[in-house]
Amino acid sequence: MTETARPSWAPEDVDITKPNASRIYDYFLGGSHNFEVDRAAARAAVEAMPGIPAIGRANRAVMHRALRFATDRGISQFLDIGSGIPTFGSVHEAVQRARPDARVVYVDNDPVAVTHSRAVLAGNDNATIANADLRDPSSVLDHPETRRLLDFDRPVALMLVAITHFLHDGDRPTEIIAALRDALAPGSVVVITHATLENGPTPSGQEAVQQIYRRTTTPLIMRSATELEPFFAGFDLVDPGIVPLPHWRPDTPDDDLDPATLHGLAGVGVKPLRLRRGVSRGRT
Ligand SMILES: C[S@@+](CC[C@H](N)C(=O)[O-])C[C@H]1O[C@@H](n2cnc3c(N)ncnc32)[C@H](O)[C@@H]1O
Repeated sequence: MTETARPSWAPEDVDITKPNASRIYDYFLGGSHNFEVDRAAARAAVEAMPGIPAIGRANRAVMHRALRFATDRGISQFLDIGSGIPTFGSVHEAVQRARPDARVVYVDNDPVAVTHSRAVLAGNDNATIANADLRDPSSVLDHPETRRLLDFDRPVALMLVAITHFLHDGDRPTEIIAALRDALAPGSVVVITHATLENGPTPSGQEAVQQIYRRTTTPLIMRSATELEPFFAGFDLVDPGIVPLPHWRPDTPDDDLDPATLHGLAGVGVKPLRLRRGVSRGRT
């Protein structure tokens, strides 16, 4: 493992000898809050699959389209779990531009993401960061910062953007996500993006990338659209369903599409006024 000097901004409790998803992703997006081990892992991943930075950008783009879907429905509360290092175009910037009163709670378990988010959000009374772990949903829902800013009697947009692929089957992802969905009021929205081996042109590249992430603190688990359906149980999956990132309600024709972006899936569900069993489909 590559050794690296600890920069002055790095929190003492962060292990700078092991790469981590938030900092690898920060590097892909052109950010500067990453260590040499993260950059080395990112470079190896790009070598195995050159389209990875394009997947990151497609992921951010669909996140923004889904945020617009939520704000257009009048939602003004956002719980963004696995928010990462604020690099550019963060959730609070997008939604507070549309609705200055919008409230945003970011959640991450990476000390660099938490420390940097805290610095970026200083002075913003309607946005905060909670240091909590998705694998313990009550640590997210009962966190004092979550309770301070979000009113769970009103709709919330639950953002699980490029995080649920860090949940192993042994973590019981379906139960974790159900616990979060259950806490939401009718009219709430859940947004999920997730890495997949389906659709894309380079499954062998994806497998090599999975190998690289296996050596990080955040191994990556690929899932199919069918495997993601239970994550939306009881919610109405809006059109076009669970589809490759660039195909979820694109703003522009996808002439210049990097085929690697098909290795990410996106889906959005809405909590109906009366809960049904299983997942249903329909334009909302
Ligand atoms: C790939 S980044 C995604 C950042 C942002 N959501 C986006 O899509 O632009 C994944 C983030 O999830 C965080 N993460 C991974 N596992 C987590 C967990 N169990 N609890 C909280 N955060 C987690 C990582 O630290 C990282 O910041």
